[in-house]
Amino acid sequence: MQLLNTVPDLRAVIKEWRLAGESIAFVPTMGNLHAGHIDLVNKAKASADRVVVSIFVNPTQFGVGEDFSTYPRTEQADQEKLITASVDALFLPAVSDVYSSDAATVITVSGISERYCGAFRSGHFSGVATVVCKLFNIVQPDKALFGLKDFQQLTVIKTMVRDLNIPVEIIPVATVREESGLALSSRNGYLTALEKQVAPEIYRALCVIKEAVLAGGQSFEELEKQGLMTLEQFGFKPDYLCICRAHDLNLASDEDAELVILVAAKLGKTRLIDNIYFSRGN
Ligand code: PAJ
Repeated sequence: MQLLNTVPDLRAVIKEWRLAGESIAFVPTMGNLHAGHIDLVNKAKASADRVVVSIFVNPTQFGVGEDFSTYPRTEQADQEKLITASVDALFLPAVSDVYSSDAATVITVSGISERYCGAFRSGHFSGVATVVCKLFNIVQPDKALFGLKDFQQLTVIKTMVRDLNIPVEIIPVATVREESGLALSSRNGYLTALEKQVAPEIYRALCVIKEAVLAGGQSFEELEKQGLMTLEQFGFKPDYLCICRAHDLNLASDEDAELVILVAAKLGKTRLIDNIYFSRGN
């Protein structure tokens, strides 16, 4: 695996591959890699000749008082995992390699970025869209892989790619979970032992609502309320729990077949997000 720290170094390697006619799949990450990230890498390997992974804890997507300074940085262990996964290149830039000090351009995907997580994390999705657009311009991949775990992020990125005609195919990848159902996340490391036992309830609540939606007979609003109450009973402080239509994340109506239930909730100091995506086939 080649380790590249600057844009010109990475571009030189990519140029060689392009001259040889090779295709490139890209997996952007913020590091602290777990089996969910590695699953993206494995799917990337299966979809192109070369795989580029980036590790960049992007300051512009963290708000004031959020965990930018404490976000887990485990670069040595991450590199070993990527070597084992046979990644071709790791792009590991410094903040100054990505952002010039007088950077003036920000990408905002309006509407979708202000709802759900966006309503609680002002500016977060502009930070994500801007860095992902920059990384796409740096790597110029044929394909880029993103987890369904961050469903709203995936929707923001798909919208940006469509609206700006970015020539990349976005490949969504299913959420990797612990046996308990808890979605793997770098932020799970913040949970205390006790909170770790309670955390899977967030996915259980989603499964219960999904079954109730499929059974019919209760309004979505009622089911959302029940879900929020369940989470509160387990000690979560939910930000939102919404039954949405999957393609644009507007609130779902009875006619919608493709649904996603989005949830974000705090457990102690840790903010967890999860979702469940399903089809009613009607
Ligand atoms: P990060 O949280 O490191 O996630 C990198 C990628 O891994 C994202 O596409 C995310 O959806 C995916 N992922 C995380 N947990 C997963 C799981 N349990 N199963 C499957 N995929 C999972 O998301 C980001 O970084 C950043 O916002 C980024 C896109 C890199 C922009 O800075």
